[in-house]
Amino acid sequence: MRVVTEATKAELAVAIADGLLEVCAAKQAAGAIPCVALTGGSMGAAMLQALAEHPELGRVDWARVRLLWGDERWVPAGHAERNDLLADESLFTTVRFDPALVHRMPPSDAGLSLEEAAAEYARLVAGLGPIDIVLNGVGPDGHIASLFPGRDDLLRDEPETPAAIAVRDSPKPPPERITLTLPVMRAADRVWLSAAGGEKAPVVARILSQDPAPLPAALARGREETVLWADSAALGR
Ligand code: 6PG
Repeated sequence: MRVVTEATKAELAVAIADGLLEVCAAKQAAGAIPCVALTGGSMGAAMLQALAEHPELGRVDWARVRLLWGDERWVPAGHAERNDLLADESLFTTVRFDPALVHRMPPSDAGLSLEEAAAEYARLVAGLGPIDIVLNGVGPDGHIASLFPGRDDLLRDEPETPAAIAVRDSPKPPPERITLTLPVMRAADRVWLSAAGGEKAPVVARILSQDPAPLPAALARGREETVLWADSAALGR
């Protein structure tokens, strides 16, 4: 795991946005449509805002970028708790995407059950190639997306594990969610973890020490690289 550090959370968000622009521009130069899985949480929000305000935003043709979400809260479309609202309020106000390439997880008012919605998303993701970048904010307990430590029902990693599953009784509210799973994250080229603030220092130390009881954040590894983007406080400095 490579560690990239910046002094502050704001600088970290800009550094992640820089990296994302770099990868997307290179993929497009090679004739590919980059595929990025977004994260919720405050780091996800900060990165999307940094991207929306980035002076080199025009380096990437956003109409040729595919977006997925790493997880979503099971609330109605447009609800203040939706993770996709973070993109609605930042990046989507600045650049135009092709709606056919923006794959939001179904909301709770789409007429599907939670399990049906997760299965629909799993089918969609299974039909795509490997994800280029999975962005994952790290929770203070070491969770990523809606994969929580100690939850064997969520931390499945078998060949038959669907790419997305329903989450019930999430320890972080709201209790019902949809999440990508470990196999699809491990099949991705890049897994980028992000952590900012002193409250993340203990969990970051555990991730870096390869604690024998692995945390979800330590289990998601990209095929090409796994990067931990952390500010000084999260590194305990
Ligand atoms: C969510 C997120 C979740 C989040 C982490 C880190 O639905 O809340 O997807 O996995 O990314 O909890 O959040 P912070 O960056 O706010 O600490």
